[in-house]
This record gives sequence, structure tokens and C-alpha cells, in this order.
Amino acid sequence: MCVYYSHIITSLCAIFSFLIIFFYFSSLLNHQNDINFITFFSFSKTPHLSKNKLLLHDNNEQVSFLKENHTNHHAKIKRSLQKIEEDLARARSSIWKAIHSRNYKSDKEEKFIPSGSVYKNSYAFHQSHIEMLKRFKVWTYKEGDLPMIHNGPMKNIYAIEGHFIGEMESENRHFLASHPDEAHVFFIPISVAYIVQYIYLPIITNYSRERIQRIVEDYIHVIANKYPYWNRSNGADHFLVSCHDWAPDISIRNPNLFKNFIRVLCNANTSEGFQPKRDVSLPEIYGLPNINVTPDPDHSLNPKNRSILAFFAGRSHGYIRKILFQHWKNKKDDEIRVYEHLPEGQNYSKLMSQSKFCLAPSGYEVASPRISEAIYAGCVPVIICDNYFLPFSDVFDWSQVSINVPIEKIPELKIILKGISWSKYLKLQKNVKKLQRHFKVNRPAKPFDVIYNVLHSVWLRRLNFRLD
Ligand SMILES: *[C@@H]1O[C@H](CO)[C@@H](O)[C@H](O)[C@H]1NC(C)=O
Ligand SMILES: *[C@@H]1O[C@H](CO)[C@@H](O)[C@H](O)[C@H]1NC(C)=O
Ligand SMILES: *[C@@H]1O[C@H](CO)[C@@H](O)[C@H](O)[C@H]1NC(C)=O
Ligand SMILES: *[C@@H]1O[C@H](CO)[C@@H](O)[C@H](O)[C@H]1NC(C)=O
Ligand SMILES: *[C@@H]1O[C@H](CO)[C@@H](O)[C@H](O)[C@H]1NC(C)=O
Ligand SMILES: *[C@@H]1O[C@H](CO)[C@@H](O)[C@H](O)[C@H]1NC(C)=O
Repeated sequence: MCVYYSHIITSLCAIFSFLIIFFYFSSLLNHQNDINFITFFSFSKTPHLSKNKLLLHDNNEQVSFLKENHTNHHAKIKRSLQKIEEDLARARSSIWKAIHSRNYKSDKEEKFIPSGSVYKNSYAFHQSHIEMLKRFKVWTYKEGDLPMIHNGPMKNIYAIEGHFIGEMESENRHFLASHPDEAHVFFIPISVAYIVQYIYLPIITNYSRERIQRIVEDYIHVIANKYPYWNRSNGADHFLVSCHDWAPDISIRNPNLFKNFIRVLCNANTSEGFQPKRDVSLPEIYGLPNINVTPDPDHSLNPKNRSILAFFAGRSHGYIRKILFQHWKNKKDDEIRVYEHLPEGQNYSKLMSQSKFCLAPSGYEVASPRISEAIYAGCVPVIICDNYFLPFSDVFDWSQVSINVPIEKIPELKIILKGISWSKYLKLQKNVKKLQRHFKVNRPAKPFDVIYNVLHSVWLRRLNFRLD
């Protein structure tokens, strides 16, 4: 049961059953009638001003003034939380209405209207996005110093981490809360990739994750002591975004502290503690150094002109690629082109846009930038993975945009892909093109692009519980 305290520091009640998220999480529909409460670890319910401190003032007036000040402060926080919860309740209600009426409602002209099978529920997604734009406010904590906090890599494999942090740090962004009291969620702007770069590299001599864990835990202790927000939700409305392979390990040393915390991770490995209801799967996007963010997604060849059946080029990272290479590397086969090293003079993105299917096997960790690269190139991704919770699975139906080949079926890859009818292929490819908008990195971010989609995933998780 939900426990209601009259005290301002109260329980967190997560009532998943009243929630829209199940419209997205069709795979979790069997839990629909469960009522999940996030249990919370105990904390002190004593007021901020200790008895000792009050005793220092034997002047009664002073004491009552302090008491009133204290009460006023709590009342103020309580009112702001009430306002936030009323706002979220209105958002939920609008989303329900959109689902039932199969239509959206907006105060302004909608330039883009999601539709089609690529969305699990296009009405819910659209309305939820409208509500997010209208209401969602994020507070980015100011504590901490460069280079590992307030900043992240904008190039190469972990680029999405730096771009997200950069977006949250920019002054003019849409979601900026002017005061933490009006925020729905709280962002912890630590870059795990930069911790690794500045503390562990250039040569990693010690793989112990302890230093990363200490930095994140210390940060949380600082903000939990300074402000009331962490304690009132036990971290459930707090999040961190990282694409680094090691990022899931932030919570291993002190699982209780991170029990409700939203981890937005590229390494969304469900057998390593990734929890789809709480955490968010972040797409890995390779940021090209000389192109500001990502390639222009519109130069993809027509499906008829895609002469290569399947393409992959990449290093032999991890066990899945070893199996792939064992069966398909450097075969004298024009239809399936699998390379560990791309032959001289060949153009990676050109090959992708000439292929019908682009293979996206997991490497050292579950995520691969090839899913987003395939999408940009208009190539249907073939996902070969284990325990990977795909990005934005709350809203996108990956079975309508990609082919999933189980690891044990790798030897049959060609038979499987050749067995896909032309009409099925055209449908998949059309849906891939629909995803281009949603995987695009814009700076500043734009509605429905990849950064907004990450925020939308966090927004959905915030809609999923109520703070009292
Ligand atoms: C009383 O409230 C004011 C403004 O809300 C605050 O700045 C001040 O620190 C408070 N004093 C105490 C002793 O809590
Ligand atoms: C690695 O780092 C951890 C934590 O900082 C430390 O306890 C351990 O002794 C280190 N190991 C080596 C081999 O230096
Ligand atoms: C939050 O809880 C911790 C642990 O109980 C406590 O040390 C801290 O003072 C609390 N923070 C605030 C702002 O009350
Ligand atoms: C396909 O390629 C041929 C020759 O390369 C070109 O003439 C034709 O316009 C292309 N068709 C489409 C639909 O892009
Ligand atoms: C590779 O091909 C793409 C188009 O598919 C083109 O934009 C790019 O300039 C080419 N790169 C090189 C190095 O030729
Ligand atoms: C996912 O986690 C499991 C369990 O730790 C591990 O065995 C597996 O290698 C991980 N997957 C990848 C692709 O790293």
C-alpha cells in the first residue's frame, strides 16, 4: 500500500497501473494489473533545525520565527510539488484522451504528425510529445566543475553523451526550469566517458570502477544534503546520461542509493541490471569529427537500386562478431559483404546506402552505432544481440523497422534475408526512413529528434509515478 506522511519528506508511491507507459510497453502488458511501489530506504524525518540549534536561541520570538520560517519553506515546497503533480495528472489525462479519440489536441499548429506501424501507438506518442513540450521542466544541478562535469565528448563513439549534456547546459533551451521547485526531473550532468578519459586514460592501469562510483556517489550526497529534491523521491526523479560501456557500473557499489535512479545508458544490457521500466536505452551515435553532428539522412538510394543484400564492417569486438566473422567474413559473395577491415578505396557510408540490410551485431557491449548509421543510410538494420533493450522501445515497434537474427541463426543469415518478401522489405525500408527524423542529432535540439526522444523517455518514466 501507499504510505502517506503528512510530513513534507514523504514516501514515493509508484503506481504503475495508472499509467500510460503500458501503452508503449506492450511487452510488459502482462503486468498491467500489478501495483508496483518503489520501496524506499529510511531517512530521518526530523526537521532541518535540530533541537540543539533551537536551544542556542533562548529568545522565544526568535525561536518561533525560525519555526515559522521552516514551516513556510516546507509549505512552499509542498505547494510547488502539488502544482507539478496536478500538471502531470493533466498530461496523463490528455494522453488517455488522445488514445481513446485517436486524435491529438494541441494549442498550436502541429508541423509533424506521427503515424504508421513504426509507432506502438502514434496517438499516445504524439500527445505525450505535445504535453512534454508544453509542460516538461528539467533542472540541471550547477554543482561540480569541468572537465568531467557539465561537459562530455562530442566526437566519436560516445558523442551522444556530450551532445546531451551540452544541450542541457545551454541557456536558451526549451526545458530549462528557472527554479528547481518547478522541475519535474533533475539532471546530474556528470560525464562517465570524461571521467574515464581524465582519470583512467591514456593507459588504463586499473580497471576498478571505484573511482567512477565515488565521484557519482559523492555528487549525489552533496545535492541530497543541500536540497530537498533527492530525498523526497529517493532519486526517482533524478537521471544521468552516459554512453560509456562502464556507465552501468556506477550503481554496483551502492545499489540502494540507485534503486530508483533513472540511468540513461547506451549499454542497456538487461542481464547486467538494466531495468526497462526505470532506466532508458540511449542510442549510440557516431559523431563524425568533421561533420558537426551526423550525416544528412536524405541521400539514401531507392530500394530498387540497393544492389548489396547485407553489409557490415567493423572490428572483432565481443563474442557475437566472432561468430559472424567465422561464417561470413571475406566470403567471395557479392550479396553478403562482411569485413573486419574495409578494403582500400571503399566508402563506408556509400556501401551502407547501397545495401538492403545493414548488420548491427553487438560488440564489447550491447549497443552499436550501426543501428543509427543504418537508419541514416535508409538501410534496414539487422539486429544481432543478446539481452539488449533497444532504444525508444517504449514508443517504436522495432519489429516493423528491423530484422532480428538470433545468434544461433547467424549461419542462416543469407537464407533468412533472402526469405523476406519484396513487399515486406519495402514496408521495413519505409519505416526506416520514418525513424531518420527521430535519430537525428540537432543542436539546438528540435521536437521529435533524438535528444527530444531521450527527454521523452525520461518524461514517460516521470509520468509513471506520483510524489505525495
Ligand atoms: C528564512 O527564509 C528565508 C527565505 O525563504 C531564507 O533565506 C532564510 O535562510 C531562512 N532562515 C532560516 C533560519 O531558515
Ligand atoms: C585499483 O583501484 C582500487 C580503487 O581505487 C584500489 O583499491 C586497488 O588497490 C587498485 N588496484 C591496483 C592493482 O592498483
Ligand atoms: C537527505 O537524507 C540524508 C540521509 O538520511 C540526510 O543526511 C540529508 O541531510 C537529507 N537531506 C536534506 C536536505 O534533508
Ligand atoms: C537507379 O540507378 C540507375 C543507374 O545507376 C539510375 O539511372 C536510376 O535513376 C536509379 N533509380 C532510382 C529510382 O534511383
Ligand atoms: C562517401 O560517400 C558519401 C555518399 O554516400 C559521400 O557523401 C562522401 O563524401 C563519401 N566519402 C568519401 C571519403 O569519398
Ligand atoms: C550482457 O551481460 C551479460 C551478463 O553480464 C554478459 O555475459 C554479456 O556479455 C553482455 N553482453 C554484451 C554484448 O556485452
